[in-house]
Amino acid sequence: MLGNASYERDRCITGIRGLDEILRGGIPYGSATLVAGTCGSGKTTLGMEFLMNGAKSGEACAHFSATEPSVKLLENIRQYSFFDMTTVDRGLINVFDMDVLFSWLGLDKSTFTLDDIDAMVKAITDIVNTIGVTRLVIDSVTSLCYKIPNEQLIRDFLFKLGKSLSTLGCTTLLIAEITSVGGTAHRSAFGVEEAIADGIIVLGDVERMGNLLRYLQVVKMRGTDHSRAKYALEITRSGVMLTPMLKWGVSQ
Ligand SMILES: Nc1ncnc2c1ncn2[C@@H]1O[C@H](COP(=O)(O)OP(=O)(O)OP(=O)(O)O)[C@@H](O)[C@H]1O
Ligand SMILES: [Mg+2]
Repeated sequence: MLGNASYERDRCITGIRGLDEILRGGIPYGSATLVAGTCGSGKTTLGMEFLMNGAKSGEACAHFSATEPSVKLLENIRQYSFFDMTTVDRGLINVFDMDVLFSWLGLDKSTFTLDDIDAMVKAITDIVNTIGVTRLVIDSVTSLCYKIPNEQLIRDFLFKLGKSLSTLGCTTLLIAEITSVGGTAHRSAFGVEEAIADGIIVLGDVERMGNLLRYLQVVKMRGTDHSRAKYALEITRSGVMLTPMLKWGVSQ
């Protein structure tokens, strides 16, 4: 089919209201997408809703938590009506603490060597392979990168991770923490994540009349056409919702 103008890569439907339309059908299967956002911009909620929508159709999903303990994460996320706790009990949503994983691997250290990175990538891909995970969220990849001493090793880590997960047919969201998304600001903390990732979705804030509003923008997504406009992102009890930004003027 390659070379045929009508060829389109199969999509992983995120199920997030508005996002699949922005992506013209969803994320191309097996992609590693950087979800780069400021604090409180909705990264974890979006990631969990993405997993939950897969779990609801019977997919095995995994969340690697490096920024908050999994117990606390589940306590917060179960407040949302989209979250069905039975998917955890049924083994469809699998939540792992990176701290625990590091202890298992004997990686309780502040700086990783190339061997340590390889061990981490192998541990993650082994879990994905064993459980048959098709949707994965790493929250956050930034906190893992802080343990990696230089840009070349960060590149190696992300490249190897993305390649192994793609080979396993796993669609991955790599959550990244950024401090500012205004103007020409970096879309990643280390400046290398954005080049390695197949897609970049930025979550940021804009202040309007003293109100801090959230937005989402798809900066790149290899393998598909997509909108590059900013969309208003609302977090409601039922999850994330994206609407064209023009509506902000009406509702405010
Ligand atoms: N039930 C809810 N209904 C509506 N909004 C909520 C609800 N629960 C949390 N929020 C909003 O979601 C925000 C947190 O979202 P989330 O944890 O997904 O962001 P994040 O980008 O992962 O944050 P962090 O930078 O701390 O990791 C809260 O600050 C709050 O504004
Ligand atoms: Mg978070």
